[in-house]
Amino acid sequence: MTEKEKIIKLYKKKIDKFLKYNKAYFQKDDPIVSDFQFDKLKKELLGLAKKYPHLKKIENLENIVGHKLSTKFSKVKHSKAMLSLGNAFNKEEMLDFQKKIKNFLNIKPDIELSSEPKIDGISASLRYEKGKLVYGLSRGDGIFGEDITENLLTINEIPKKIINAPEVLEVRGEVYIGKRDFEKLKNKFANPRNAAGGSLRQKDSRETKKIPLKFFAYGIGETSSEISKNQTDLLKKLKDWYFPINSHCKKIRTISEIEKSHEELENLRSSLDYDVDGIVYKVNDLSFQNRLGSTSNSPRWAIAYKFSSVKASSRIKDIAIQVGRTGAITPVAKIDPVTVGGVVVSNATLHNEDEINRKDIRIGDTVVIQRAGDVIPQVLSVDKSKRDKNSKKFIFPDKCLCGFTTKKEISLTTKKTDAVRRCTRGYECDFIAKEKLKHIVSKDAFDIEGLGKKVIDNFWNIKFIRTPADIFCLNYDKIEKMEGWGKLSIKNLKKAINDSKKIVLDRFIYSIGIRHIGQENAKILGGFFQTSKKFSELFNDKKRKDILKNLDDLDGIGHTQVKSIEDFFSNQKNSQIIQSLMSVLIIKDFEKINKIGKLSNKNIMFTGGFKKMSRSEAKALAEENGAKILGSVSKKLNYLVVGNSKPTQKKIEKAKELDVDLMTEEKWYDLLDR
Ligand code: IVH
Repeated sequence: MTEKEKIIKLYKKKIDKFLKYNKAYFQKDDPIVSDFQFDKLKKELLGLAKKYPHLKKIENLENIVGHKLSTKFSKVKHSKAMLSLGNAFNKEEMLDFQKKIKNFLNIKPDIELSSEPKIDGISASLRYEKGKLVYGLSRGDGIFGEDITENLLTINEIPKKIINAPEVLEVRGEVYIGKRDFEKLKNKFANPRNAAGGSLRQKDSRETKKIPLKFFAYGIGETSSEISKNQTDLLKKLKDWYFPINSHCKKIRTISEIEKSHEELENLRSSLDYDVDGIVYKVNDLSFQNRLGSTSNSPRWAIAYKFSSVKASSRIKDIAIQVGRTGAITPVAKIDPVTVGGVVVSNATLHNEDEINRKDIRIGDTVVIQRAGDVIPQVLSVDKSKRDKNSKKFIFPDKCLCGFTTKKEISLTTKKTDAVRRCTRGYECDFIAKEKLKHIVSKDAFDIEGLGKKVIDNFWNIKFIRTPADIFCLNYDKIEKMEGWGKLSIKNLKKAINDSKKIVLDRFIYSIGIRHIGQENAKILGGFFQTSKKFSELFNDKKRKDILKNLDDLDGIGHTQVKSIEDFFSNQKNSQIIQSLMSVLIIKDFEKINKIGKLSNKNIMFTGGFKKMSRSEAKALAEENGAKILGSVSKKLNYLVVGNSKPTQKKIEKAKELDVDLMTEEKWYDLLDR
């Protein structure tokens, strides 16, 4: 054996060992060697690869672990999920928020809100037991956080001990870095938020300590006893325990107060020593918060009203058309690249045909571009004084990129013509099909790591993937020959795809991207169909008609959704594509984690409007008590609760026929001892 061969053999042996450690460490979260041994082996391998670069061709260590290696923290489940917040960008969206909370709670007057600056930092949850800080977690994915206790302990502003506190108290808040302190770190990080994040995730807490992190408390997680009746008092209580509370928090109620506090803080923004990116408005009364509960991602009782961003001026070089996964045709302005708030922007959305006509936007125009938060930059206005005399009105194409005619639909709810043009060919349109694939692999859908938008674009262009089922029958030998792919990345991709084959029904329904069926509606449908077998009946024209009749009765599913489901499944190509996808998957039955309560194992249905609460709240309350909400009257139904305002007579008659218990709103409250 030559010297070179010997080195290769040694490297391979060590790499195998490393892969084993690495897997135990990252994938199973169950290390088999100490951190010291792990790092030592890593160093050895890096040293070898540096000395003998040809080894990198066998396996490049940097590709195996990447950044994860230096930031290993153990995962801990949050006792109460750390949700994110819904966003609002204008007065209308705030009015909508107000309307929604009032409707849900069935309350006419405006509801008191706590207005709090939205600190642009990194959220953390601090757990105190018997007054002592026992651990601190990052948000992570909201369900599991990372144990970053050591790093949080370096933050002077975080109390390590609190007195007269409940036995268990979790305090949640934002870790941030002051703007002045950030000045010294400017060349290392793009902005204060990144600096705070980077510092908090240092493996060595001595590194964290070097950066002066700060903290604002804004809420709580688990507590062993009640702390206060409302958010304002809660913040006061936290202040008494010496947690830093932002001084710009206040109680407000009306839309004009919302607008006023938003404007005031926006004006103050540049003078503050920390970054704020909006205001969080929270329903102040905690019992209302409790009643409102949350949807899958965010609480119904709070919203982040973002600041109106940063603007810049540029010139439209061209107007291109993009086709979205639901067929929506979006005009996009290709502009001369311009920096907007630190980000180079060369595309900006023009929303739709009506918007272009209303603002009379033309190719060659000088326009104001706005970028707000994570949303796509948009063209705000045209500077007509700079317009070329010879410029022509932009004629919006009435055809999709696939060549077929587009349509403007009439909304079933508003009866108005939609502003958006759509291609209605579903998977038959190549442009829609590609976007649908991107949706299918996305985080809330199949969540296939390694198969991002760019890879889909690439695989699509070389005709490697055309339908969702293709994802699960990839030719890995071919991929291996492509640029940018190595043994390990293929191994990871294979694993990610294989793991994603097992999918729960409601997630599957969301993934296939039926228009108007988001995560919430997919859950409702999952609950209705229960099994993939039942769901498959949608492929049968006759059965589908009967199913759709029942779907209309499901709370949350309206005519718009029913029509959309009909449109989706009556399209032959869609049906065929989804059926072949289903044939390569293992679709698990819908699993509703039924709460244990007074109504466990009971099936319930509501009809008509109620006096004390909205139907949505009644439904949420029933589920909270362990009941299952049914979408139609059947023998399985235990109770039909009949509200006094316009109940459906047909449902009542059918329930009587089937001997289902009918009850009034009052009786329903009695049942729950309310
Ligand atoms: S309340 C259920 N209050 O914003 C979520 N969040 O986009 C309750 N944030 O992850 C969060 N300032 O990290 C709340 N005054 C404030 C906040 C705040 C900043 C962050 C927080 C959260 C994110 C949501």
